[in-house]
Amino acid sequence: MNPLLTKANWMESDDIRPYVFVRPENQIALPGSVHRLDWFKQQPIFKDPLDIHNIAFADRIYSLEERAFGPSNMAMPRWVFYDCAVMPGFVAGFAARPSALSKEMRAALDPKVFPATGSPIKTSSVMKEVTSLDDMDWVPLSLFIIIPSMHRGEWIAHNLCSVNSLLPQGQGLYGLGFLSKAFGLWYANVEQCSGMTQWGSPALKLHSHFGHLEVIGAYAPVHSHAKTITYRVSVNTHCWEKFFNKEEDLAFLENYGPTDTYIDPKDENSMLEFQQKIEAGKGPYYLSASEIAHKKLDEKLMIYSLKQQYSR
Ligand SMILES: CC(C)(COP(=O)(O)OP(=O)(O)OC[C@H]1O[C@@H](n2cnc3c(N)ncnc32)[C@H](O)[C@@H]1OP(=O)(O)O)[C@@H](O)C(=O)NCCC(=O)NCCS
Repeated sequence: MNPLLTKANWMESDDIRPYVFVRPENQIALPGSVHRLDWFKQQPIFKDPLDIHNIAFADRIYSLEERAFGPSNMAMPRWVFYDCAVMPGFVAGFAARPSALSKEMRAALDPKVFPATGSPIKTSSVMKEVTSLDDMDWVPLSLFIIIPSMHRGEWIAHNLCSVNSLLPQGQGLYGLGFLSKAFGLWYANVEQCSGMTQWGSPALKLHSHFGHLEVIGAYAPVHSHAKTITYRVSVNTHCWEKFFNKEEDLAFLENYGPTDTYIDPKDENSMLEFQQKIEAGKGPYYLSASEIAHKKLDEKLMIYSLKQQYSR
């Protein structure tokens, strides 16, 4: 195992594997051929979302997602998952054999206690309802949804969540959320990835480590949550390592310098002001992953810009 991943030694277990939930037509042609990395050695588990026998697997994804996003009122309706995720893109994550689940995970993922809202499985004469995790071959522990966009080469990270968010602190699998996104980007050979998250979200600690994070939107009134950051990264696996080793990113320090502007996750005006600068074409602007890693979620973040721009 790569020593960088020591804190995520659950990756060594044969009973926890990456999965790809994808319709056959969307299969990636040469998975893992762009980003040279030795992190994901196990064969993924494949599930086809259009095969109704996989409804129990899909329902565990829903159940996890609706509780992870319920508190922020962004749980994904079933039709959004179908129309906007599995038809155009794919879902990746990690799944465990039922025997490998801890007591706490079993409690958090129990289908009897937490059935998926809106599932037709209860009333179906064809599909078999799963009432015990032990009746499943693999139980999903996380999900990362990624969708290709019309802008050639650019993918959109649509959703990320992990069972860790439903467990008592310290009872989860370290790096599960981060490695779910890393696996999806690696597997699908994603070179440019954009995404959205809310200012102050713990997810920013993860998203900022996939490549230098450019802020392309600081305020999103078209979203149901206006205090949303829209970002873009050019995927760079050197940045991934820093999520684990916490080393300073010298390339970031070399290329970008602090501006006189901060973004304050508690102050909507700071987002609006920053948004106006972006719209005025004064950027590009970046956030520092190392700074985000060291700060509390509600602390102000420095905005960085390119140190020098050469004109042709
Ligand atoms: C955000 C989320 C995906 C993170 O996944 P995870 O599996 O818990 O996190 P990982 O184990 O991969 O990463 C661990 C790092 O994230 C930090 N982190 C995770 N949740 C955190 C929280 N609630 N507050 C502060 N830091 C947090 C950890 O401190 C750790 O950083 P460290 O190495 O500096 O200690 C997960 O908490 C989640 O599903 N949240 C609910 C849904 C959500 O908000 N999704 C993101 C939408 S874009």
